[in-house]
Formats: sequence, C-alpha cells, structure tokens
Amino acid sequence: MKKVRVCSGRSCTVFGSKRLMEEIQKQTGLKPGESHGTMDLDWCGCLGYCGRSPNIAVNEATYIFEASPETVMDDIDHGGEDMTGRVIDPENIAAFIDDPLI
Ligand code: FES
Repeated sequence: MKKVRVCSGRSCTVFGSKRLMEEIQKQTGLKPGESHGTMDLDWCGCLGYCGRSPNIAVNEATYIFEASPETVMDDIDHGGEDMTGRVIDPENIAAFIDDPLI
C-alpha cells in the first residue's frame, strides 16, 4: 500500500496542493484520511522543500517535487525522487527546538 501525503504547508498550498489533492481524490475515490487496498491518502505538514512546491511524499522516502495535477497519478505510481536519508527526522526537529544557541 502506498502512503501518499500531500503537503499542506503554506508554500505548497500557495502553489496548488489543494488541486493535487482534488485530482488524487477524483482518480482514487479517497478523501484525506482514508485508505483502500492500494493507497493511504492524507495531508501532511511542511516537508522542508518549500522551494520546490507543491510537494508530495510517497511512503515517506520518495518525494514528488513540483507536482502537477496532470501527472500526479503517474508520478505517484512511477516517479518521484528517492530521499532516503534526507527526509526530515522528528528527532532532529526536537534537537533544533531544544538548542539554546538557535
Ligand atoms: S510548504 Fe510544502 S514543503 Fe514546505
């Protein structure tokens, strides 16, 4: 099952994440927060790549940058960039927030 997360951060919203979600919903019949045999669909927070908005994460380590409604389903099935080792780690965020020098 593919875990598909559409970024709902500010930059991605401005650059069309809502249209991406609408297209995925239209193609799959899923709504955010729902899943079926092959896909689990939902929104997510900022993925950390705002300069390439709008973005989608597939199975957490594959990111589709500058996604477009016209190609989003094909990109979910076959595209994206492998971001293994480069995705945001919640532990790093916690360390950043707790750092008194920042
Ligand atoms: S707002 Fe989507 S990656 Fe930052």
